[in-house]
Amino acid sequence: MTQDELKALVGRAAIEYVTPGRVIGVGTGSTVNHFIDALAAMPVPVAGAVSSSVASTERLRARGIRVLEAGEVERLPVYVDGADEIDSRGYMIKGGGAALTREKIVADLAERFVCIADASKAVDVLGRYPLPVEVIEMALPQVVRRFAAIGGTASARAGVRTDNGHPILDVRGLVITDPPALEAEINQWPGVVTVGIFARHRAQVCLLGTAEGVRTLRYSAG
Ligand code: 5RP
Repeated sequence: MTQDELKALVGRAAIEYVTPGRVIGVGTGSTVNHFIDALAAMPVPVAGAVSSSVASTERLRARGIRVLEAGEVERLPVYVDGADEIDSRGYMIKGGGAALTREKIVADLAERFVCIADASKAVDVLGRYPLPVEVIEMALPQVVRRFAAIGGTASARAGVRTDNGHPILDVRGLVITDPPALEAEINQWPGVVTVGIFARHRAQVCLLGTAEGVRTLRYSAG
């Protein structure tokens, strides 16, 4: 199977975690695009979706799914999204599609984060994929220096602004052995809007697309 076929496989499989008639959280990316297509084909549809990006909003609406603002809901039963890397504890790197800030906001509303990913995203230690960080422009040089001090090489993603109008740094060279600690540390740096480590908002379940089919990984608390 191709990587895209694996993404389609897990996109369809995630429908099992969706309750018809409820509002759910929807992530961003090529894997989620398959999930949105599967959502649109549900015999009893969802009541709507809170979307994590302009791109997902457009796809949801094009398929007849109502999109709600985050402020219109207090809780979501589930948030379904992809990842750039996921480790054996459900900690993730996200933001390859530059949607990390809204992804974290919607994930924060959800009782359960279901990650959908092809097998290439599963890693022992996070960090081979460049870590995305959304930053207020004024603070870019300072944040770049802070990453250098901890062994990371940060460069601005050329020609990219997030849906919130900010630049994105991609940080190479980090070996993230303690994702919760590093996420908490980077969150303290002035000018950082969102770091693409999803540790506090890690996945509870990952549907991993493999050549043998969908592997369901569940992560215990703690
Ligand atoms: C977007 C993300 C995506 O979930 C991540 O980049 C995975 O994308 P894809 O499903 O296209 O491989 O975090 O900001």
